[in-house]
Amino acid sequence: MIQIPKGCKDVLPSQAYLWQYLEARARETAQAYAFREIRTPVFEHTELFSRGVGDTTDIVNKEMYTFLDKGGRSVTLRPEGTAGVARAFIEHGLAGGVLPFKAYYFISAFRYERPQAGRLREFHQFGCELYGAAGAEADAEAISLADAFLKNLGLKKVELHINSIGCKTCRARYHQALREYFAPRLSQMCEDCRTRFEKNPMRILDCKVEGCKQIAAGAPRMLDYLCDDCREHFGQVKSLLTSAGVAYTVDPSIVRGLDYYSRTVFEFVSDAAGAQGTVLGGGRYDTLLEQMGSKPVPAVGFAAGMERLLLVMEAENCLPPADMGAMCYLAGMDASSRAKAFLLAQQLRGAGISCETDLMERSVKAQFKYADKTGARFVAVLGERELEEGAAEVKDMRTSSSERVKFGELAEYIKRRI
Ligand code: HAM
Repeated sequence: MIQIPKGCKDVLPSQAYLWQYLEARARETAQAYAFREIRTPVFEHTELFSRGVGDTTDIVNKEMYTFLDKGGRSVTLRPEGTAGVARAFIEHGLAGGVLPFKAYYFISAFRYERPQAGRLREFHQFGCELYGAAGAEADAEAISLADAFLKNLGLKKVELHINSIGCKTCRARYHQALREYFAPRLSQMCEDCRTRFEKNPMRILDCKVEGCKQIAAGAPRMLDYLCDDCREHFGQVKSLLTSAGVAYTVDPSIVRGLDYYSRTVFEFVSDAAGAQGTVLGGGRYDTLLEQMGSKPVPAVGFAAGMERLLLVMEAENCLPPADMGAMCYLAGMDASSRAKAFLLAQQLRGAGISCETDLMERSVKAQFKYADKTGARFVAVLGERELEEGAAEVKDMRTSSSERVKFGELAEYIKRRI
């Protein structure tokens, strides 16, 4: 038997309500902030990610699903959503349109990682991107949207960590300080870190090798190297968050695993999110769009991992109740009552009431059992007498009470009761 690829998960119909619930809360929150949905392709030209996400990141170097298509072009299954949104924004000339541009998305994303709890090879993200606003209000808006979304899910133990990783100007000084710190320690560090040292020393801070992590723990902190503008920007973000009632901790160790960030970076973390702990991550990325060929457009955004959110929701007891079966199940005793049930079901569906009848030629007892197992709310059994009278006994499965209802009044009756 062919099995599902490692690191992927099926969402079976019995679990789909969890995803629908999560998506509904996300949509609700994004729309409250006047963000609108964007959909971009699952695969893009490989260069989009190697340039956008950054060719010194683990994502680009080790984790991308890259292949040649039949035309010999190198394409990559998206490892994240930001680069695709940025490409679409530029390609459709939206920089010349109404700004700020505010978009949200639900995507599947692909990273060739070692699967474990909360870490998959195909995973799903809810993300938001805000383009055109350089001020701290935009950072605060993105962060407060993320915070509102998590609160909307009922989560209370997820903590917000924020940091600033500065701009091009202050980062040059910081890189210098990092190189001075790491140079005498390089021989104790992994091969990758030696390459990172040359290309982008900040990436060393993101290394997952234990020995490197220990050395990195003593490295200089970006916060101590911020230029005046970046320091002021970060100060404003913090005071806006405080005034909006969004609790945070400044965490100088956040560097994020993608290259495009500048200034504010943030992560919402929880012990219950599996090995990595980050449920949602994001930040400002003021140079990505320009780097991709647009005029300069400041940007900020985030993405939440849906699988990790579900883990955290379970741990915090925030999962919604399972969804119900059909609102009404119409059982039939014989050929003519089954035919009537089929017809009535059509009428009820037309009136907006979900309805099922037997498709398996089961006995009335078995039909009743099915209705009960699948969680139907109302059940009516139709037989010879019911057809003669044009009415049936309708049982409310929640209360076990039942009432005789005329066929023509079924829809009204059910609507009144729910
Ligand atoms: P990221 O931190 O790479 O950022 O991913 C965002 C979230 O996706 C993570 O916090 C985590 O919840 C989830 N995630 C990442 N990798 C996996 C995985 N292998 N399995 C399960 N969940 C995972 C980004 O992707 C940026 N594009 C976020 C962003 C948007 N920044 C600005 N705008």
